[in-house]
Amino acid sequence: MLSFQLLGALSSAALLVSGFPLFPRTCPTTGATMDLPADQTKLVNPNAAPKFILLGAGVQNYSCSAATSTYASIGAVASLFDISCQQKSPAFANIQNAAFDILEAAPADASVDAIGRAVGAPELMGYHYFVSFGTGISPKWDFTSTGSHKGDASAYVIGAKDGNISPPNDPKTDVDWLVLHGVEGSLAAQMFRVDTVGGQPPSSCTPGSDPISVKYTAKYYLY
Ligand SMILES: *[C@@H]1O[C@H](CO)[C@@H](O)[C@H](O)[C@H]1NC(C)=O
Repeated sequence: MLSFQLLGALSSAALLVSGFPLFPRTCPTTGATMDLPADQTKLVNPNAAPKFILLGAGVQNYSCSAATSTYASIGAVASLFDISCQQKSPAFANIQNAAFDILEAAPADASVDAIGRAVGAPELMGYHYFVSFGTGISPKWDFTSTGSHKGDASAYVIGAKDGNISPPNDPKTDVDWLVLHGVEGSLAAQMFRVDTVGGQPPSSCTPGSDPISVKYTAKYYLY
């Protein structure tokens, strides 16, 4: 018991001297809503508060379809940072643009896990990637290996797409905004990808050419 208390005291002291801000790792999301285009009905703000508000930074992967000479999606991989505590700050609206600029300028081998810290969102909650599911591949949000849910084997969700809209800013450059529902895992029941920056492949490709990775950022809201 004594050593446990001592350990607690030591780790609080370490936190204080390390200079990390002592704000909670996640902040209440009561009243938070997504800023969605008014001229559509596919993506609708749920009535509940989001469970997680995340910044995603990573790549969308594509391979060249020989039949059409266009790129087809083969998945994505991204790091997910908690941005619930940034939600009320003026920088929140464009945090995905700030993150994209840093990602775009970074060398190909640079760690994406550092992007969050660079935009004031140091809490790496987990990863977004694709897994084999049913007859194809499906997107997964996985908090089991890092962050405050590390070690909780059920802290993931695999999603199935319910709808998409063209991104309001630049559909040639930015990937679609999406709504998905959970088909496995207990992290969330509904997932949204909004405020996308980048991620779209070139409009055509040479059959036989190598797969490509296109950098992107987005906000993910998990309900
Ligand atoms: C996407 O490409 C990156 C390299 O750019 C690779 O690390 C990752 O495994 C790829 N993921 C998928 C699902 O293709």
